[in-house]
Amino acid sequence: FLDYEANPAPKTEFDLGPATKYPPDSRTLLADIPAILVHNDDGFSALSLTCTHLGCTVEQNKDEFICPCHGSHFDLNGKLLHGPAAQPLASLRIETTEDGKLILHTD
Ligand code: FES
Repeated sequence: FLDYEANPAPKTEFDLGPATKYPPDSRTLLADIPAILVHNDDGFSALSLTCTHLGCTVEQNKDEFICPCHGSHFDLNGKLLHGPAAQPLASLRIETTEDGKLILHTD
């Protein structure tokens, strides 16, 4: 019992590799985070795909995200369309390193 270690904190920083991997006007599913990386005229942004109700992963269906657990709907920018969720999908912070890599932060 002296060796017992608590579970490590969940990972909150993800190296997405070179920014050049993600062409302009693209939306890239990052299923293991889960998130969507968006590259548009405003640059890079990311949206969490974790439902703000109870944490299921939302799924894209044409022009909206739908939560398979209790049916919340969000538009493609994460705006809440209808609940039971009460909050939009979270925007995630993207950092570009000096050597041109993208780092996604989920905290
Ligand atoms: Fe998404 Fe409940 S966890 S609607």
